[in-house]
Amino acid sequence: MNIVLGITGGIAAYKAPDLVRRLRERGGDVQIVMTASAEEFVTSTALQAVSGRPIRSNLWDKEAEAAMSHIELARWADIVLIAPATAEIMARIVSGGAPDLLTTICLATEAPIALAPAMNRVMWSNPATQANRRVLESRGTHILGPAVGSQACGETGAGRMLDPDTIAAAVFDIGTIQGEGLLDNRKVVITAGPTREAIDPVRYITNRSSGKMGYAIARAAAAQGADVVLISGPVDLPDPPGVEVRNVTTAQEMHDATHDCVKEADIFVAAAAVADYRPKDLKEQKIKKNDESMTLDLVRCPDILASVAALDAGPFTVGFAAETEKVDEYARSKLENKALDMIIANRVGNDCGFDRDDNAVNVLWSEGEKRYPQAQKSKLARDLVELIAERYYAARGTDTQPRLSVISTTD
Ligand code: CTP
Repeated sequence: MNIVLGITGGIAAYKAPDLVRRLRERGGDVQIVMTASAEEFVTSTALQAVSGRPIRSNLWDKEAEAAMSHIELARWADIVLIAPATAEIMARIVSGGAPDLLTTICLATEAPIALAPAMNRVMWSNPATQANRRVLESRGTHILGPAVGSQACGETGAGRMLDPDTIAAAVFDIGTIQGEGLLDNRKVVITAGPTREAIDPVRYITNRSSGKMGYAIARAAAAQGADVVLISGPVDLPDPPGVEVRNVTTAQEMHDATHDCVKEADIFVAAAAVADYRPKDLKEQKIKKNDESMTLDLVRCPDILASVAALDAGPFTVGFAAETEKVDEYARSKLENKALDMIIANRVGNDCGFDRDDNAVNVLWSEGEKRYPQAQKSKLARDLVELIAERYYAARGTDTQPRLSVISTTD
């Protein structure tokens, strides 16, 4: 994995040589990019020795730019990790400014970005820093930590950089390595996010869904060589690189966009949280609160997943089941009732499943099942795509690609 490691000016920069060692032990090729203030805390001589590559720090270094320009560096990266990440670098990335080499790479890269914040606890809890954290997360940036504990400034609280081994493990979990081409020449259609069903011009019915799982599956399928169409309800996530994204709002639009392309698909994954009902009539004017109570007349939305599963010679069809209780039982009945090839079930509610970067799921199909423990959605998505590919080739009875024999199984 090609890792651009950005080091910014915090006392935790003294842990950077250890972090480099941990990343390299796991097989990472590490290119360090330091900011000017990082050089106050750790020497480039030490970092060059542990990383085995010349340190980059200056956007205007003609010799270094000639060897590998900042744009080439941004393309080279499978991931950009900034550790320690100061409040300043978080604010810079949020603002889109690019005054130096590191911020320019952040702006120019299509690779995932991970930050390991490290700062005084009051700086971390400052509303400005927390607002920046939320914006970064909504754009898909991975925020690793910070940890809680005693700080260099003598205070105790949240703001310590995570320990280098935990950061290195998280970086490899985020996982950006291209797959083995398990889905080369296959077309995969995925729905993701919620739908919105308008009540009047200012109100709508929707479901809780961040879209993160569907987007992670889209990225993982594309990394395995698939031609991916992602049909997305309204979410606050960046388009996954190399994926065709079709934005929709309502269940009917999602249904129509799906049927527009699903006939040529080999695999369909319904990760969207589609509204089951929509208001019967859309009020053209805002409804006024005249009465103590009111009743909305609702009608069923089309069941996209069931309609795809019912197609003659349709794709291998994978559904999701989000349940608050009896997860396996309800999921298996959905598998059967909707005639699916596979269903991915997870428990939701009480802080599980929604709007988080991790999840745990059970996958069920007619003659088997597999459990995946709590993991980052990106890692889970990679494992799920491998399993989907395996089951797809088995169900189609087609010659499995030779590479399928090396699928790793995760329990
Ligand atoms: N789904 C769909 N179209 C709908 C509703 C759901 O494609 N109109 C898909 C979802 O993307 C998900 C699966 O169906 O893959 C969820 O099944 P569903 O039975 O709709 O789940 P719930 O709405 O949670 O059902 P229930 O309320 O009966 O538990």
